[in-house]
Amino acid sequence: MQARKPKDSDTTITELMIPSYANFGGKIHGGILLSLMDKVAYACATKHAGNYCVTVSVDTVDFLQPVEVGDLVSLMARVNYAGNTSLVIGIKVITENVKKKTVKHTNTSYFTMVAKSDNDKPARVPPLLLTTQEEIRRFAESILRKELKDYHRKAMRENKDTFNLKEQTHELAKYNCVIRVEE
Ligand SMILES: CC(C)(COP(=O)(O)OP(=O)(O)OC[C@H]1O[C@@H](n2cnc3c(N)ncnc32)[C@H](O)[C@@H]1OP(=O)(O)O)[C@@H](O)C(=O)NCCC(=O)NCCS
Repeated sequence: MQARKPKDSDTTITELMIPSYANFGGKIHGGILLSLMDKVAYACATKHAGNYCVTVSVDTVDFLQPVEVGDLVSLMARVNYAGNTSLVIGIKVITENVKKKTVKHTNTSYFTMVAKSDNDKPARVPPLLLTTQEEIRRFAESILRKELKDYHRKAMRENKDTFNLKEQTHELAKYNCVIRVEE
């Protein structure tokens, strides 16, 4: 398969945040932004893969600053990593206050997408052609993120296997819970 450059599948979605997108506090619903992120990840991954792609996993979406009604939100997606059948799409979200002309970086997230063939099986994706230091860094960071996630998953599984309810229950006392077993 012929390698493809990340910039060949760069995709941006820009959308105005209208009042019907607001939550009960008057800010934009997190779900609206998640939906836009999923759409831009889909379009970017599918352009690179040449097959339709599905979302498999999302690495950390932190809403550290609220998005306001009236903001213009742009989501910029680029392929950061290509596996055998999976792609990691980095998405940078920026919001612009069109009246004040101020721009803020709202968050950056990583969506893992898998390409599917016509019979719904994972399909191979073209290799990524890396031509800048930045692209090499992003590719290497994606591998590290993947390894850390595998490590975390394995550690959780091992911890569950060795978890002793009686011994470890007292440690929960320092957390915000009340333990009153009724069964
Ligand atoms: C994801 C899916 C394709 C995996 O299918 P599978 O037959 O288990 O295939 P594999 O184990 O070969 O995994 C395929 C790729 O997904 C990756 N993958 C699987 N689970 C993953 C996870 N939890 N996080 C990140 N990547 C994952 C694998 O690493 C592999 O990547 P690679 O080929 O680049 O090495 C399958 O579970 C699926 O179709 N899930 C539903 C996805 C969907 O419909 N999403 C929309 C939201 S409802």
